Amino acid sequence: RGRLLSFHRAPDHLEDTQAYQYETDGALLIEKGRILKRGRFSDVAALAPDAPIQDHRPHLILPGLIDTHIHFPQVQVIASWADQLLDWLNDYTFPAEQKFEDKAHGTRIAKGFYDALTAHGTTTAVAYCSSHPNSVDAYFEEAARRNMLMLGGKTMMDRNAPDALCDTAQSSYDDSKALIGKWHGTGRAYYVITPRFAITSTPAQLEAAGALLREHPQCHLQTHINENHNEIAFTKELYPDADDYLGVYESFGLLGKKTLLGHCIHMNDRELAVMKETGSVAVFCPTSNLFLGSGLYDKARLETHGVRTAIATDVGGGTSYSLLRTLDEGYKILQLQRQRMHPLTSFYWATRGNAEALGLEDRIGTLEEGTDADVIVLDAAATPEMALRMETAQSLAEELFLLQTLGDDRAIKQTYVSGVPQKRAG
Ligand code: GUN
Ligand code: FE
Repeated sequence: RGRLLSFHRAPDHLEDTQAYQYETDGALLIEKGRILKRGRFSDVAALAPDAPIQDHRPHLILPGLIDTHIHFPQVQVIASWADQLLDWLNDYTFPAEQKFEDKAHGTRIAKGFYDALTAHGTTTAVAYCSSHPNSVDAYFEEAARRNMLMLGGKTMMDRNAPDALCDTAQSSYDDSKALIGKWHGTGRAYYVITPRFAITSTPAQLEAAGALLREHPQCHLQTHINENHNEIAFTKELYPDADDYLGVYESFGLLGKKTLLGHCIHMNDRELAVMKETGSVAVFCPTSNLFLGSGLYDKARLETHGVRTAIATDVGGGTSYSLLRTLDEGYKILQLQRQRMHPLTSFYWATRGNAEALGLEDRIGTLEEGTDADVIVLDAAATPEMALRMETAQSLAEELFLLQTLGDDRAIKQTYVSGVPQKRAG
């Protein structure tokens, strides 16, 4: 019981009340991990007079937040004082990812990883695991223990990285295929084909990634693109015949509606046209883009070109597990470009919008009846200073904006995964 808020489409103007449903004294009836009923408290309570009630008034109840790009083996990389992308990868990230050769390390980090996600209100994430298949096992085993809907896969990388992290085109194909068979569709697991980016893959490996996608059209594919100028220049040296960066992925058949492309900062018009044509998704990673000094994601330009978009933390390049912190930094990046994002749009993006980008809006990112009961409870007065600011908030939009601007894990009062309230670690 509490104030229910969920979106059924993107708000297309300020105060677009048609885009969302808001119930000031609402309730969800949850059974067997699903939302059975959603409505006014009195109506829902009448349907199930014996059901135990968890009273979250006066807090807001939203669908669980969705993180569309995060790196599971970078839990110990976040907050590393590095220069830009390529130095950060070589100096901090690749050494940390090598430790995932040890399954026990992956299992231990997975617990901390999922504790962090749920403490921050994230109930679904799309993750890069390390190049070691057993990191994928550690990742999905812990997700299964918690009944979480998670997407992820083994990072494919066969050059320009330490030998201890490199696979080969053939072994990455074989291992990914075996992992798809083992995990995709078991419980709530979705496998994602994961070539890291053009620099760390030979043409033979990108060919293998394309073959995997053709053979497993049920799977997503994720990679990085146009994040940093040195990265782009190196890619051009490695793939001199490609039209541009996106042209590399295009030529190996890696694009489509299930393709998630991290960053998409420095895009040319041809690339945007191909993104639109293929339905590929441009994933905005604001805290990472600021932290690594990568550049400013141009949401308006992407959307004008008809490109689908999503938002994500990109931990450990990103600096917070919180989608609230992420929306706030995203807001500022867009402000710098005179693109002011409305709070309704923000919260749509982190829930239903990201679910649509994944093609999973029938299951998550919504409070629709029949969907999975991944739900969070938000308190816009979670800290004394938030409480003081909240006294003057005049509308739902102002409350959401305050949550986005001042909120973090302290504002997440409760996270339900498959209908079960998650305990806080520590
Ligand atoms: N490009 C290739 N690998 C990575 C990574 O781990 N993080 C980020 N932000 N960009 C990348
Ligand atoms: Fe990333």
